[in-house]
Amino acid sequence: MANGVNRVALIGTGFVGSSYAFAMLNQGVTEELVLIDLNKEKSEGDAMDLNHGLPFAPAPTKIWFGDYSDCKDADLVVITAGANQKPGETRLDLVHKNMKIFESIVSQVMASGFNGIFLVATNPVDILTYATWKFSGLPKERIIGSGTILDTARFRYLLGEYFQVDTRNVHAYIIGEHGDTELPVWSHADIGGRSVIDLVQERQKYKQEDLEQIFVNVRDAAYHIIERKGATYYGIAMGLVRLTKAILQNENSVLTVSAYLDGEYGQHDIYIGVPAVVNRNGIREIIELKLTDEEKEKFSHSAAVLKNVMKPFFQ
Ligand code: 2OP
Repeated sequence: MANGVNRVALIGTGFVGSSYAFAMLNQGVTEELVLIDLNKEKSEGDAMDLNHGLPFAPAPTKIWFGDYSDCKDADLVVITAGANQKPGETRLDLVHKNMKIFESIVSQVMASGFNGIFLVATNPVDILTYATWKFSGLPKERIIGSGTILDTARFRYLLGEYFQVDTRNVHAYIIGEHGDTELPVWSHADIGGRSVIDLVQERQKYKQEDLEQIFVNVRDAAYHIIERKGATYYGIAMGLVRLTKAILQNENSVLTVSAYLDGEYGQHDIYIGVPAVVNRNGIREIIELKLTDEEKEKFSHSAAVLKNVMKPFFQ
């Protein structure tokens, strides 16, 4: 923080980054937002365009196109840079390309003297969050990945539609890899205090197979969107703003993020999606849900898949 104002540095102003900047401005979350990208023209244009929205924003935000030296006084560095999935590609397929990009980004951020919190959104997000921790040398709680925040939002949205309840009153989590091995925690899914499992057992109009289909739609949502429009960005951008608020406003909010596990859920030395308490210091603690045996098994499988992909990079 410089002169008592919050500064967020955004690295990568592609679809996700520029949607994040737009949502940040619209929600008036930070006093300063610096845009950093290899594509100078695009970022400069974005800064100009966004500044023209200032008269309509709820609070002033100073937005400019900058460089890595601006990270020195940043409270938060958000990374959305990197290659994204093409139709048919999985998130894990991006690991080689994006690992290289991250090595360079994180070292340049650290060279500025940055000493804040990293928020990582680039895929494969769990692995790149781990990489950011390794490359930066910062404490593990100050590295946060967007993890399953978006999958959880998709899940809550679809459950809200199914049960005809405001999605904000649906409490349910997707945990594990932000990707194909993620899992729903049905044992802790509830709506207004009623368990989703009980609701389905009690009322004939609700069906178990519908719940299963809801999860499949959550897990495969990105594929369906990428097929149609080439990329996903609004949902993740709003999830990143939600996380930014939880951090800058010291909210102690429970959000599903990619967090470092050191024994929680029986896992060690991995960043993976779990509910965690997020505040100004980063991740305050992991919420360890009591999972069923089946959920435990799926979570361990998800962790094993991530570890296997990470192995060649971090022996
Ligand atoms: C998403 O889930 C592609 O990870 C991105 O929308």
